[in-house]
Amino acid sequence: MIDTLNRIKEETRQNIDRAQDFETLTEIRVRILGRKGEITQVLRGLKELDPGQKVEVGRLANEVKDGLEQLIEDKQRQLKARQLELALQSERLDITLPGRPGKSGGQHPISQVNDQIRTIFTCLGFTVAEGPEVEMEYYNFEALNVPRDHPARDMQDTFYITRDMLLRTHTSPVQVRVMEKMAPQLPVKIIVPGRVYRKDDDATHSPMFHQVEGLLIDEHITFANLKAMLMLFARQIFGAEVKVRYRPSFFPFTEPSAEMDISCVNCGGEGCRVCGQTGWLEILGAGMVHPRVLEYGGYDAEKHTGFAFGMGIERIAMLKYQINDMRLLFDNDTRFLKQF
Ligand code: DAH
Repeated sequence: MIDTLNRIKEETRQNIDRAQDFETLTEIRVRILGRKGEITQVLRGLKELDPGQKVEVGRLANEVKDGLEQLIEDKQRQLKARQLELALQSERLDITLPGRPGKSGGQHPISQVNDQIRTIFTCLGFTVAEGPEVEMEYYNFEALNVPRDHPARDMQDTFYITRDMLLRTHTSPVQVRVMEKMAPQLPVKIIVPGRVYRKDDDATHSPMFHQVEGLLIDEHITFANLKAMLMLFARQIFGAEVKVRYRPSFFPFTEPSAEMDISCVNCGGEGCRVCGQTGWLEILGAGMVHPRVLEYGGYDAEKHTGFAFGMGIERIAMLKYQINDMRLLFDNDTRFLKQF
């Protein structure tokens, strides 16, 4: 029996040593130390022995049993430690790697120009007014002295929602809307930035674009006031060297009407491709508010005068940043937009 015990001890020690996982260890424990295990069998056989041998074999059996239990426990601990080490290795995170910076957006060139225009005019005491993009035919044309069948409607063909309702073709309708609300208070001193729509689509025209309208009504307002204000505006936007000129023009809602040109931002007035060799660039329409428009708005054309102007924001952005195709402003291509 002593030999058997020693054999069990030696074989099991080797098996434990070779075991690579917990299942094998459990299986060894059951086979050797379990209720029907090899050592348990030996202990059961003790009663056949005489007392002297019983003590000796019993002690050895217990020794082997305790020893093997200890070995299994040690091995288990060893396997656990290795498992942890492997997990740490495979799940390793290098927290010293540099992070990936998030992309921060920038302001669209149209918004930049829009903000600059707002700043210039609010510094001059104008307040910002807004009006609806889906507009009544009445405010868009009628109240601006453009009756039905007037040829001026041709240049501003648009998207009609019903016969009386349309997508506004300019920001001018807000002139009468604001006058109606304010009359007879003075002064009316507003700018109106906003989106407008037309049946146009080419390199310098888009079916949707932005305008800023200006309106100043008070007593004793003259064309000289208009010129002074627009000169100041042009210098702020295009720089102190810029020159301006006025050409007579026609708008049904102003009398007299003019268009303002600035000296070419590309050649400074020499003549080049950008200005079509003229040295000048057209930039806005303006004039003295037509008496009929004042009356539509509720003001007395005998006592009150005013000036108005309107400009396209895209056009100003294109001149300022030398952009040659308006569609670039609406393509949402970040390679283009991030230059500004
Ligand atoms: N509304 C005109 C347009 O879209 C621009 C304009 C011209 C506005 C003269 C005005 C003005 O206020 O006085 O073409």
